[in-house]
Amino acid sequence: MAVPFVEDWDLVQTLGEGAYGEVQLAVNRKTEEAVAVKIVDMKRAADCPENIKKEICINKMLNHTNIVKFYGHRKEGTIQYLFLEYCRGGELFDRIEPDVGMPEQDAQKFFQQLIAGVEYLHGLGITHRDIKPENLLLDDRDKLKISDFGLATVFRHNGRERLLNKMCGTLPYVAPELIKLRSFHAEPVDIWSCGIVLTAMLAGELPWDQPNDACQEYCDWKESKHYLNPWKKIDSTPLALLCKLLTENPSTRMIVSDIKKDRWFSKPLNKGLKRHRVCSGGATETSEIFSKHIRSDADKSLLSHSDEKTKYSSTQPEPRTALSSWDSSNTSNIDSLVQGKGYSFSQPACPENMLLSSQLLGTPGASQNPWHRLVKRMTRFFTNVDAESTYNSLKDTCEKMGYVWRKGCANQVTLSTTDRRNNKLIFKVNLVEMEERMLLDFRLSKGDGLEFKRHFLKIKKKLEDIVAVQKVIVSIT
Ligand code: ADE
Repeated sequence: MAVPFVEDWDLVQTLGEGAYGEVQLAVNRKTEEAVAVKIVDMKRAADCPENIKKEICINKMLNHTNIVKFYGHRKEGTIQYLFLEYCRGGELFDRIEPDVGMPEQDAQKFFQQLIAGVEYLHGLGITHRDIKPENLLLDDRDKLKISDFGLATVFRHNGRERLLNKMCGTLPYVAPELIKLRSFHAEPVDIWSCGIVLTAMLAGELPWDQPNDACQEYCDWKESKHYLNPWKKIDSTPLALLCKLLTENPSTRMIVSDIKKDRWFSKPLNKGLKRHRVCSGGATETSEIFSKHIRSDADKSLLSHSDEKTKYSSTQPEPRTALSSWDSSNTSNIDSLVQGKGYSFSQPACPENMLLSSQLLGTPGASQNPWHRLVKRMTRFFTNVDAESTYNSLKDTCEKMGYVWRKGCANQVTLSTTDRRNNKLIFKVNLVEMEERMLLDFRLSKGDGLEFKRHFLKIKKKLEDIVAVQKVIVSIT
């Protein structure tokens, strides 16, 4: 997408893509400030202008440490730009090792922060409706931030609650009543999805495709078969909490005040342990990750809220701009970005090229820029052979493994298959020549992110003859 942009700010890379458009990282050339810019083309869907207005309106109401900050928005023709806090730590999703999860104390900390954010939202009468690890971002200190209010709605206004009736969210994370009932309370649905997130953090897998009686795994859970996966990987104290979060009946499901009193939730767990990371071999290791890695659309969100008419009060807080959240020396920059005052537009210096910044690796100055810190991405590796051999080996291997292989533009291929639950899985591989070596960078396009990581590891294993010895694989993102 050709994006007009404000002088001094470059769109340096794509942070995420979805049906709505994309999120780009914008960096101020002079001050090196970084913000995330959600770019939505309202031409894309008939109901889009309404949806994006609602997203902006809800964002303006929010101000909490566990919620991605909203700096403001601007419209250029049919394109809406939303300026958001840039979360360097990437998605919570990337801290989950497939089939393993993460250390319990990390899961506890993230879960406590998630519940703090959810409590705040519910207190304002807002429900997120699409809580999942892909929508939970981390800042440079690993503080969790709830992101993407594209499906959020108001369920309580002036003290009066309204029931919801729209099916929206992402199937493995949605509560059973949303599938079964015509109308339901908003809060328990968000609480349920927090329970699924906690399961993913503690076991590295999602418990079911969807919570209905046609799903064996869900029936097993209701019959308390805790000797099965994923439950058998989870310690009894957090499992006791999960039993109360993933309770079918929404009226007996835990509410936030119960969660805060739960034994595991409030139990002091060992702090200051080595940081546990997922590395490209699927093993864990300790390293600092500062940056968000680039992900493509892994969004399986069900439906939007196009036909929901939510009324907002005319006394909403004023739009929060940079002023409220940035110190005065930064204010004019973000302000200009939001308002576009007194600036001419220029094309970004390096638009859209997701890997371009990786190529700065090792160049002088790369490490001096705060947004150019090093990140270890799980789903990429170098090979020790040339471009042609790499391409041929990858093609051969993937075809033998049954993937549908489609050559895309430039050095990109798209691989499609179905995962172990028979769901569609599509991902892209970028082949990038870097310092006379080849980097294979895998990105999920559609499907379950944990399954994607499992497939990545299988392909990598099959290619082990050409995988370069694990010199630190880092990228600047
Ligand atoms: N991806 C989507 N939104 C983001 C944000 N605010 N920061 C970093 N990555 C993102």
